[in-house]
Amino acid sequence: MQKTLVLLKPDCVHRRLVGALLQRFEQKGLRIAAMKILQASTELAQKHYAVHQGKPFYESLITFLTAGPTVALVLEGREAVVVVRNLMGPTDGAKAPPGSIRGDHAISIQNNLIHGSDSPENAASEIALWFRPEELVHYQTVDAAWVAGSN
Ligand code: RTP
Ligand code: MG
Repeated sequence: MQKTLVLLKPDCVHRRLVGALLQRFEQKGLRIAAMKILQASTELAQKHYAVHQGKPFYESLITFLTAGPTVALVLEGREAVVVVRNLMGPTDGAKAPPGSIRGDHAISIQNNLIHGSDSPENAASEIALWFRPEELVHYQTVDAAWVAGSN
């Protein structure tokens, strides 16, 4: 099954939306493979968003991600990367459609509650950045066959 890294960013924790967002992932049929709360160091935030280094919003983004607690998750399921990206909605909360996480709960570009890996390759490197291998738990939920069907 495909895995993806999700970060519930500091605005999500401070706004007490962690539980509401976890419920959406569970309802969709994704499995929680790893989860922890931590305050990201500047070094971790810089590595995570290295692709944005040099962009006008980069410094502010690093300050934002290190300013409070983050809940880091590994979610697993069929097409988990694209499934999570679609649940999140586009970057700008003001433009994200109602029904998406950012569309329902965010109105900022930067403070948009959630990060999700944008490809399976990036998911693998991001999971390795945020989690040690032994932090991932391998199990099958009892409803797995009913969620998965034959495809
Ligand atoms: P993410 O990486 O967090 O999943 O978000 P994303 O793919 O939708 O957006 P991306 O372009 O990768 O940007 C990473 C994060 O940087 C902040 N941002 N601020 N002020 C701005 O113009 C701006 N643009 C992006 C957001 O927090 C965005 O999620
Ligand atoms: Mg991104």
